[in-house]
Amino acid sequence: MNRRYWIETWGCQMNEHDSEKLSGALEGLGYERAGGPADADLVLLNTCSIREKAEEKVYQYLARLRAARRENPSMIIGVAGCVAQMSGASLRDREPIVDLVLGPRAAGRLPELLARVTERRGIVDTTLYQDGLFRSDRPVRRDPRRVKAWVTVMEGCNKSCAYCIVPTTRGREVYRPLDGILAECADLVADGFAEIELLGQNVNAWRDREAGEWFDGLLRRVGSIPGLRRLRFTTSHPAQFTDRIIEAMAETPAVCHALHLPVQSGSSRVLARMRRGYDRARYLDRVQRLREAMPDIALSTDVIVGFPGETEDDFRETLTLVEEVGFDQMFSFIYSPRPGTPAAMVRDDLPAERKTARLMELQQLQRRIQLERNRARVGRVVRVLVEGPSRRDAEEWAGRTPGNQVVNFAAEGVRAGDEIAVRITAAGPNSLRGEPVEFDGARADRAPRRADSAAS
Ligand code: SAH
Ligand code: SF4
Ligand code: F3S
Repeated sequence: MNRRYWIETWGCQMNEHDSEKLSGALEGLGYERAGGPADADLVLLNTCSIREKAEEKVYQYLARLRAARRENPSMIIGVAGCVAQMSGASLRDREPIVDLVLGPRAAGRLPELLARVTERRGIVDTTLYQDGLFRSDRPVRRDPRRVKAWVTVMEGCNKSCAYCIVPTTRGREVYRPLDGILAECADLVADGFAEIELLGQNVNAWRDREAGEWFDGLLRRVGSIPGLRRLRFTTSHPAQFTDRIIEAMAETPAVCHALHLPVQSGSSRVLARMRRGYDRARYLDRVQRLREAMPDIALSTDVIVGFPGETEDDFRETLTLVEEVGFDQMFSFIYSPRPGTPAAMVRDDLPAERKTARLMELQQLQRRIQLERNRARVGRVVRVLVEGPSRRDAEEWAGRTPGNQVVNFAAEGVRAGDEIAVRITAAGPNSLRGEPVEFDGARADRAPRRADSAAS
């Protein structure tokens, strides 16, 4: 019988996609996916260390794995991702059942490292490799039921936001050459993926000096691959979000009018202390430019509350910015000190209850804004890319608008990957309901059927 693997994933899309690469590597070695961690021969935890809670979850999971390991002593347990990079060999001191520690940039070496770990438990590789990161001969295991495929365009982050652990865990920026990106994207479209999302921790810093292309050129090049319906990218940084990128978004039909542009705070004083490299005015200027070029653009953001030294006035500025911009989605977090970051050395005297109260107030405001914005969409006809059965009601379908809003609707004869016109009939803060309508004579634009053999 083949050996079986199980991967548990926490964190951002880059981590989710890294798990697809790890799965691909394991299936290339003849492993099969297990039904769960208990019946796996190899359990990999692909971890996130962005906040303390994310890190704790990894140790809780490892504690629960102890019993499975007692049942099956030959089980190999590996920790990959950002906690692996941050903690390195000390992970094994804290949790001796860990056999393998694998930093995000060493993930491509999994096959060699696994060969070594069967001989000697306790292999650690947290080298921040600069090359070999984007080899195209490595298999990627994508879920063939999904309509969207992720494509890595860069690794690492050269920023030094005072609170953030990512530059430590992911290393300096390395950009994938244009040719490799275009080839992978073209293959994905040929395989039937209707949507592509380009990934990088600081995605708009991408460039290919030899090809003479910058991120705006990349959007135009990928966006012109015949058959690609939707192109997205994440995560963008406001400081380098140039007018040229905005023009490329507006002029490339495949690029969705949606942007995740983390603001972190509405106070220029806090932004400076965070070392974000822009102020409130610059952020608002980017939003204005984006809306001039794409009036229908959907904007989402990340906000940190309770950064050390954040006053009540600073926090009010975040509220007014959120109100002024009118985001369609927001991810908000209480500041969490991360070991070794500059902010962690700063005195932080705001009581935890005050931070929680600020978070609640912000989230309540955002909920009202989202509800208002979604209600204003009732009656409009939107193009929905069908993703699959609705999570709430298996009789219904769910899909997304170009703005990334979830729309639930009842329809006959559609399937995942179709793009259909839907009239919005009702709105909640987090999703829309609608009914399919006739559109340009044809109800559904059908994507080429994915080769069902792919990645199975
Ligand atoms: N590269 C992206 C994503 C970084 S992590 C970017 O620059 O935006 C995702 C979000 O986590 C960040 O946008 C930030 O809002 C939040 N975050 C990062 N470090 C944090 C910390 N120490 N405490 C709380 N939230 C944090
Ligand atoms: Fe972290 Fe800042 Fe880099 Fe984003 S841009 S990953 S918040 S250091
Ligand atoms: Fe977490 Fe690492 Fe992503 S810290 S958010 S998994 S880059």
